Amino acid sequence: MKTETVAAIYDRRRRSQTAATERAVQLLRKGEVIALPTETVYGLAADALNPVAVAKIFEVKERPRFDPLIVHLPGENWLERVAKIDNRSRAHIKKLIAQFWPGPLTLVLDRQPIVPEIVTAGLDTVAVRMSSHPVFAEIISALEKPLAAPSANQFGRISPTTAQDVFDELGGRIPLIVDAGPTTHGIESTIIAVHDGKIDILRRGPVTAEQLAGFGKIGIVMAPKRITAPGQLPSHYAPKTPLRLIDNAESFPLVKNHRVGLLAWNASIPEKRFAAVRPLSHRQDLREAAAKLFRCLRELDELDLDLIVAERVPAQGLGAAILDRLERASHDSDTSVPSGEVPEMTNPFSFIRSRYFILNSYR
Ligand code: TXA
Ligand code: MG
Repeated sequence: MKTETVAAIYDRRRRSQTAATERAVQLLRKGEVIALPTETVYGLAADALNPVAVAKIFEVKERPRFDPLIVHLPGENWLERVAKIDNRSRAHIKKLIAQFWPGPLTLVLDRQPIVPEIVTAGLDTVAVRMSSHPVFAEIISALEKPLAAPSANQFGRISPTTAQDVFDELGGRIPLIVDAGPTTHGIESTIIAVHDGKIDILRRGPVTAEQLAGFGKIGIVMAPKRITAPGQLPSHYAPKTPLRLIDNAESFPLVKNHRVGLLAWNASIPEKRFAAVRPLSHRQDLREAAAKLFRCLRELDELDLDLIVAERVPAQGLGAAILDRLERASHDSDTSVPSGEVPEMTNPFSFIRSRYFILNSYR
C-alpha cells in the first residue's frame, strides 16, 4: 500500500485545514486506518464504532488483541454515550474534565454497549479522552464519531512524535499520515481511574500526580484483571540498542571500542567521551525534555551504538512520567539498573512500581 503524507496546512480564508481534513474524513468513513497528530504523540485512528476498522488497527500495529484502545471523543456530549457514569462519581469526573479536557488526560470508565468489544478487549471499562490538537479536533468534529487511536508505532516500540517517525514505523501499511509537525507533549496521555473520590494513576503522563492531587487522593495503581501475562511481550518503548539508566554521565566508566551514546539531562555534558550525545534540555526544562525524549531516543537508536546511557531526570512532576518511559525502555536490557536503586525519597511512587508495571508493559 502506498502511504501518502499530507501536511495539515491551515487555510486562513476557510479557517480550516481543509485538504487534509477532507482526505482524512473520507478515509475514516470508508473504515480505513490513518495516522493523525495529537498533542501527545501521533495516533493510529479508526472509527471506534466500526469493529472491522478497529480490527485493522491491531493488524497494522501487530498489537495483541487483549490490549484495549483509547476512545477519543468529538466532544463532551459523547462522554455518556460511550461511558456509564454513576451519580456518585459524576461531579468528580465533571470537575476533572472541566480542568483537563480537551487535553492529555484519559479516564477509564464503565463501558456503554455502543463501544465494540474489540475496542475494549472485552473489558467492562473503556478509556476515553478528548484531544486538544486543532487538526485532530477538526477531523473528529467533521467525522462526528469517536475515534479509537493507539500510538502510531509498531507494538512495543517507541511512540512517534513526528510524521516521519510514523512513516518509519508504519509506512506501506496505512494510506494516510496527516503531518502537523512535532507533537507538543511528546509523551502519551496520563491515564486515570476514579472511584469514591480517589484517583488511581494507571499511566503517568503530561498531567502530573501533583496536578491531580488537587482533585482527590492519589491511589495505588492496580493492573486490570484481564491484562495479566507478564513477561510474554516485549518491553515497552524499546529501542533496538540496549539502554541503561544512570545518575550522571561524567562518572560513567567507558570501555575501549565500545560505542556509547548519551541521552543527557545534566548541564555539564562530557561531549568527547561519548560517540553521540542528545541533550534533553539545555535549560533543564522538563517540558522540553518530555517533548524531545522519544525523538532523541530514536536518533540514538539509529546510530548502531553498543549502548545508550540515559541520565535520570528529577522524579517530580513531569520528570516522573519521563523516568517511567526510560525505565521501561531499559527494562529488558541486562545492563539496566534495578529500579530499587532509586532512593525512596526521590520517587514517591517507587513502592508501587512493580504493580504499576504490569499494566504499562502492554502498551
Ligand atoms: O496520548 C495518548 O494516550 C495516545 C494518543 C494517540 O491519544 N494514545 C495512546 O494509546 O497512548 P496506546 O494504545 O498506545 O496506550 C493506551 C493504553 C494502553 O496501555 C492500554 O492498555 C490502556 O491505555 N487502556 C486502554 N483501555 C483501557 C482500559 N479499559 N482499562 C485500562 N487500561 C486501558
Ligand atoms: Mg502506545
